[in-house]
Amino acid sequence: MGAAISRRSLLAGGAALPVAAAVPGRQAVADAVAGQAATGKVAAAAGTGDAVEPFHGPHQAGIATVPQAHAVFLGLDLLPGTGKEAVVRLMQLLTDDARRLTQGRPALADTEPELAVSPARLTVTFGFGPGLFAAAGVTSPVRALPAFETDRLQDRWSGGDLLVQLCADDPMTVAHALRMVVKDARAFAKVRWSQRGFRRAAGTQAPGTTQRNLMGQLDGTVNPSNLDRSVWLSDGPEGMRGGTTMVLRRIRMKLEQWDAADRSAREFTIGRRLDTGAPLTGRNEHDEPDLNRLNQLGFPVIAEFAHIRRARAADVGQRILRRPYNYDEPVGADGTADSGLIFVSYQADIDRQFVPVQRRLAEGDLLNEWITPIGSAVFAIPPGCAPEGWIGDRLLTA
Ligand code: HEM
Repeated sequence: MGAAISRRSLLAGGAALPVAAAVPGRQAVADAVAGQAATGKVAAAAGTGDAVEPFHGPHQAGIATVPQAHAVFLGLDLLPGTGKEAVVRLMQLLTDDARRLTQGRPALADTEPELAVSPARLTVTFGFGPGLFAAAGVTSPVRALPAFETDRLQDRWSGGDLLVQLCADDPMTVAHALRMVVKDARAFAKVRWSQRGFRRAAGTQAPGTTQRNLMGQLDGTVNPSNLDRSVWLSDGPEGMRGGTTMVLRRIRMKLEQWDAADRSAREFTIGRRLDTGAPLTGRNEHDEPDLNRLNQLGFPVIAEFAHIRRARAADVGQRILRRPYNYDEPVGADGTADSGLIFVSYQADIDRQFVPVQRRLAEGDLLNEWITPIGSAVFAIPPGCAPEGWIGDRLLTA
């Protein structure tokens, strides 16, 4: 595909046209979801199996998309000797199947086509790690994160050449799409890790409600409102414009110890109330925290090492977009939980936006007592593609 064609069709607005346009009911739902996603409100219908997220567009879906209930993050390593031509073939194959599956159509060689008919807002998002760029002979826009004091990283949850993020409101849909993706990739790559995550089931809560993590906190209150400013790339390599970068951290929660902390200690740790999510200086979830307010003893109401104070970006335009999922693996024989957060953030610039926040948290965050980062990976997320294109086309054929 010529880059000119893809850009022309993107500019012509045809980019957001999903393949399922021929199915009016489905299209209407997809439009409703897309429209309401922009305003942060999603219709109740978005929880149905028929709901479709558009695949084509200037940005890949699955980032600004209102988070679906289920996710799998798949980290793949290219097989030795896999060069640029093979990576191009792989991405063409994967894009083609992602485009089909997200619109409720079976993959090309789908052995269970009946499992494809309920897309349930499926999105398939691709990311390229530094190793993929090295294999393709293209300069990587991302590099591994520096080491942080609190890291206890395990290889089995870290790194990866290619990321596939699959999100949908139905776990069957995710499982089926995952299987199709793994089959496509088999001749080119091996699975390095896969991480399954979840949020509240679709329809459980009013649309627009902030999710809770397994520590019971409202998680996702403060996120950037203008993604053009802090998430989507508008300069740098041409093939990345409209794309972004992703940091994925697997963070284990020590829930047994957290259970032992009383409510006020838990709220002090974050700087927000557990029930409403309001800052300790406010009444409502979205009240602006007052970081200067002191209590009667002259101490800050939101502690010096409270998570929200340490995580806060001084420049609102530099905020990261957090889109985390919870994980909960089988309980150990002794009853110990293996739970935590698949922390996922998107930002235009990892070094300028993510690293300073993570550095401050590693240096001093009350929450560190109860959490341990055990996995870490970074990926460049190429822009979306046009109907005749594929993800990464402008990057890998430049
Ligand atoms: C298991 C690990 C974590 C938990 C349980 C957690 C929990 C929370 C909670 C409850 C809030 C307040 C509500 C909200 O705005 O969402 C918050 C805010 C935030 N967290 Fe975390 N967090 C974790 C890890 C991280 C990491 C690794 C980063 C980035 C390096 C991060 C960055 C932020 C930011 C930027 C905010 C918003 C701060 C602001 O008010 O401006 N968090 N987190």
